[in-house]
Amino acid sequence: MELKKITQQVEGIMLKNRKQTNGHQYTIPSPDTYPYQWLWDSCFHAIILSHINLADAKEELLSLVMAQFENGMLPHMIYWERQEGPQFDHVNLLEWGREGMSTITQPPMLAYAAWRIFSQDQDLIFLHKLYRSLFHFYQYLLHQRDPHARHLVGIVNPDESGEDNSPRFDMLLDLPPRHKLEENYNRRKNLMVENQKCDFDAPFCMKNFFWVKDVPFNAILIENLRCLARIAEKVGRPYDAGYFLEKAEFIGKAMRRHMFEDGVFWSTYGDHFTKIKVKTWAMFAPLFSGTYTPAEVAVLVEEHLENEQEFATEFLLPTVSLDEPSFQAKGDLWRGPVWFAPNWFVFHGLRNFGFEKQAQRILDSTVGLLEKSGFREYYDPHTGEGLGARDFTWGGLVLDMLEGGKSK
Ligand code: GLC
Repeated sequence: MELKKITQQVEGIMLKNRKQTNGHQYTIPSPDTYPYQWLWDSCFHAIILSHINLADAKEELLSLVMAQFENGMLPHMIYWERQEGPQFDHVNLLEWGREGMSTITQPPMLAYAAWRIFSQDQDLIFLHKLYRSLFHFYQYLLHQRDPHARHLVGIVNPDESGEDNSPRFDMLLDLPPRHKLEENYNRRKNLMVENQKCDFDAPFCMKNFFWVKDVPFNAILIENLRCLARIAEKVGRPYDAGYFLEKAEFIGKAMRRHMFEDGVFWSTYGDHFTKIKVKTWAMFAPLFSGTYTPAEVAVLVEEHLENEQEFATEFLLPTVSLDEPSFQAKGDLWRGPVWFAPNWFVFHGLRNFGFEKQAQRILDSTVGLLEKSGFREYYDPHTGEGLGARDFTWGGLVLDMLEGGKSK
């Protein structure tokens, strides 16, 4: 498919899924399944829109920060306009604790998305509008989610990883490798009930129920703190910039110290950083933040990415390694199928290390999946069959891959 045709299709989806509520503009991930605003989705939308219309990209981020909590947290969902009907139960029930929004967060892509927009038009007014929210959001993560200053940020529910039912979290939810989606959902809901009882006090008690230092979340945080430092310089706060850069470095070192073993970064749980050795795409996420060494990347690519027993499927990139007992090609959500956000992270990550051929394969797969099955939520890595939600926006990330992450 040529770029022009893909661009037209992406523009079509982004327009179809656009909403305006009380003067705020945002994009929903899928009209039939996800009719609200999501945190990391909106960051992806802003990156996509930065290739289409910068004003819309800015609106997407500005509407997102409207729901910021007093303590700086950004909720992973904003309801804006309530949609009723049994098909929306799965998302309506996520209004955990506060009216109109959720009480958990999602991977912190905001500074990265803001920087990508700014680097196209140098709009300082936009950065000034967003900076205070950015400052408090990242401070919230760095302090409330790392109360003992160990330099790794914790998530308090699997949903905060963005990979709701990933097998990385099975053991902590006391679930076997094969189980029903509903069981998984009920465990995650129980966690929220506990958290509600403790007033969503992350440093004090949320960590008693689920406390994971997730690899993608921390890798994404590192790259975002670097962007935040650049933003801080631009808005005339060099002291903040130095601080955020230093934090990024500390997190990289802590990832190596606590998560690295057998050539791979593993998510950990508990205060003693027990490693969760389940092979998912998360092992490739630190490519995005440049946290592996070039020599380690060569081994990682050969032993895992290009290994047909693990991640080398017909359509890249399965979210779970084929040799994991939890892997299912048509599994629900994050239990094996290909998703475009991981593809986007790994594409950019491989390019960071000069692995152009492997990055190109991921891009070719992404384009191939869009051609074969259209804009779906996720895809069977063997056949390319589209699964889950329809008219799902994340396929739009292909524009950013095709344009090579312009103005990075
Ligand atoms: C699913 C995904 C999550 C995403 C949401 C909205 O819950 O797991 O990452 O943010 O859908 O698209």
